[in-house]
Amino acid sequence: MTLNIELIDKIINVTSKAATSCYKFLGKNDKVNADKAATDSMRHEINKLEINGEVVIGEGELDEAPMLYIGEKLGAGGKINLDIAVDPLEGTNFVAKNLPGALSVISIAEKGNLFNAPETYMNKLAVSNKIPVDATDLDFPVEKNIHNIADYLNKDIKDITACLLNRPRHKEIIDKLKKMNVKLKLITDGDVSGALMVTDDKYNVDIFLGIGGGPEGVLAASALDTYGCKFQGRFLFENEKDISRAKKMGITDLNKKYDLKEIIKGDSIFCATGITAGDLVKGINVKDSKYITETLVTHKSSNTCKIVTREDTIKT
Ligand code: FBP
Repeated sequence: MTLNIELIDKIINVTSKAATSCYKFLGKNDKVNADKAATDSMRHEINKLEINGEVVIGEGELDEAPMLYIGEKLGAGGKINLDIAVDPLEGTNFVAKNLPGALSVISIAEKGNLFNAPETYMNKLAVSNKIPVDATDLDFPVEKNIHNIADYLNKDIKDITACLLNRPRHKEIIDKLKKMNVKLKLITDGDVSGALMVTDDKYNVDIFLGIGGGPEGVLAASALDTYGCKFQGRFLFENEKDISRAKKMGITDLNKKYDLKEIIKGDSIFCATGITAGDLVKGINVKDSKYITETLVTHKSSNTCKIVTREDTIKT
């Protein structure tokens, strides 16, 4: 079974509306209300669709988040049964500070095909489809991954670029990369976008790696699948609460390394609409009483990877 191509526009509508609902919070130092606006809008729009959806990646779990929690049923009903992963506002700091890189993101797959991931950190690796799958691995020393990539791309190590979140937890890996003279692209937030930098030469990123949010890892993986890129992730459980949640979700091997095909199977649609301008898509532009938005769309079964521009009249 595949996801009908007509669903694409409907999903673009969902992320575009969620993105524009944040517009009034740009630079207002109010992450909480920006996130709430995007979440409310996304829920409202998905509930209009004739689908039976269930949130597998959401804004927290039932006891913590009143909206779009993992396990929440969405949609107006019908014959299409879907798993839904959402990040209505990816980059809350970016919106709060009016900085580049905020996105509204969603991925859908047929029921049972999208990983039901807990809200914990994940150690991730993503590389382009030009690198053979077995040339890199989350369990290889970083030096080996870099050397292999350089060999396959026929590049000097000094011309290899690694993208990772700029966090103290990455000190060791950053030091190793610096020692190797690798180019670093240290991002302050937004690692869905970071991981997707490996999809095209125009971004000049050869490897994305390091620890970020697990939900963001699953969302990135679903787009990377359509691009034919490699992704691996391993959840990191920090405390007993995390562990017991993971077990409830059916995760028995807490140290398991997941390959892309274990995270996303079958057909999928991924949409990421720009809120503020970033590497992947432009930010919201307001012109002639309209919101103009850009959305990066991938659809696995039609092998679609494209950017869609939309105009929506601003309701007063
Ligand atoms: P939010 O939009 O929820 O603030 O997440 C932004 C983000 O940078 C993600 O892209 C990333 O996966 C995660 O936070 C990293 O978490 P931390 O800031 O705790 O390192």
